[in-house]
Amino acid sequence: MARRRIKRPKRIEGVLSLPGDKSISHRALILNAVARGSAELCGLPSGADVAATRRILKGLGVKIVPLDGSDRVAVHGRNWSLRESGGILNAGNSGSTTRLLAGLLAGQPFLSVLTGDASLRSRPMARVVGPLKAMGACVMGRAGDSLAPLVIRGGSLRGIEHTLPVASAQVKSSIILAALQATGDTVIRQPASSRDHTERMVEAMGGTIKQDGLALTVKPGSLQAVDINIPGDISSAAFWLVAAVCHPNARVRLRNVGMNPGRTGILDVLKDMGANISVEGRSMVGGEPRADLVAESSPLRAVDIGGETIPRVLDEIPVLAVAACLAKGSTTIRDAQELRVKESDRISATLAELSRLGAFVEERPDGMVIHGSGELKGGTVRSHGDHRLAMALAVAGMLAGGETILDGSQAASVSYPQFWERLDTLRDN
Ligand code: S3P
Repeated sequence: MARRRIKRPKRIEGVLSLPGDKSISHRALILNAVARGSAELCGLPSGADVAATRRILKGLGVKIVPLDGSDRVAVHGRNWSLRESGGILNAGNSGSTTRLLAGLLAGQPFLSVLTGDASLRSRPMARVVGPLKAMGACVMGRAGDSLAPLVIRGGSLRGIEHTLPVASAQVKSSIILAALQATGDTVIRQPASSRDHTERMVEAMGGTIKQDGLALTVKPGSLQAVDINIPGDISSAAFWLVAAVCHPNARVRLRNVGMNPGRTGILDVLKDMGANISVEGRSMVGGEPRADLVAESSPLRAVDIGGETIPRVLDEIPVLAVAACLAKGSTTIRDAQELRVKESDRISATLAELSRLGAFVEERPDGMVIHGSGELKGGTVRSHGDHRLAMALAVAGMLAGGETILDGSQAASVSYPQFWERLDTLRDN
């Protein structure tokens, strides 16, 4: 288990590009794999989650050819006709890979077995298995078809009307991937909106998803391959944003960050806390907005977060909890029970580790209360094998007095293999 020692630098300064957006990358690979024609993807991240999607698609007969430069590939689409894999499809730690591919494989007339690491095998799958079965696929899993490994015998699907139990982009996208292969339209009703990368990309590829408030109607049909230039991942940017605004002597510029409104909750919340973050050079590339972000040292105050903001800031809550420790006043996060079924139980794990650094916290079934004292102290913490927790704790270490020792720091490579190198370039001791 990799152990890292982290200290508060005198200054945090630099200009950074982020790894390509993980959510967009999964979709760019999957949708182009089943489109007509070939597409070039540029800006693909090297993290383990996207590598898992890429490896599984190759196992299903998709040609994915590296082009010059490590982040460019050509995907040769198979027009909804994948090939049965002779082996088990291993999604590693990636929930997006598992749920999106379950939807895709539900419409493919062969047998697939999808599994992953211990964390993934404990995450809820009934939310995709239920609707995929209702569409006509044969899907089985452990614990009454609710846990991976999932065994999928795909085939002819019919459109359904389905109400999502939670605002989940992974579940929505899984059903969309099945619906595109079905006979008849599928209607998906959402309790609240979540990131809409799938809808945007399907539209860009010539598919039809009609939106009426929180209801989506998906029309089956073929897709045309499209080149995709992937923006930087705002969920990775979040670590440097919090480090910069919470440190007393900091200025960081983050280039080319994806600004999909379903993902920018972190900016809204930090701004409500009083953070000095400017958005520069907004542009739209391939249907997804992007911009540069500049973050500077700022005095922060507590906030209350809940309701429709939660799906827009879900992955950033561990690092936001760090910001709340450094803010003045008590921050409340509610309606975030989904955090308990992420790569770790992110409510209890985040609070347990921040307590070790001197934070004053209260756990709630659906969130947390953090009594900001304006400071953290060094200590020994662990990542619980969760990439976002590893990086949030590294940021805590950059802000705490004394030395912080982080066990399990290698987890960062799931989404941000260059994280530790970047941390070194930003600090000036
Ligand atoms: C993702 C959706 C989110 C997020 C996850 C990636 C996606 O999960 O937490 O890291 O790519 O669709 P939900 O399914 O809870 O929205």
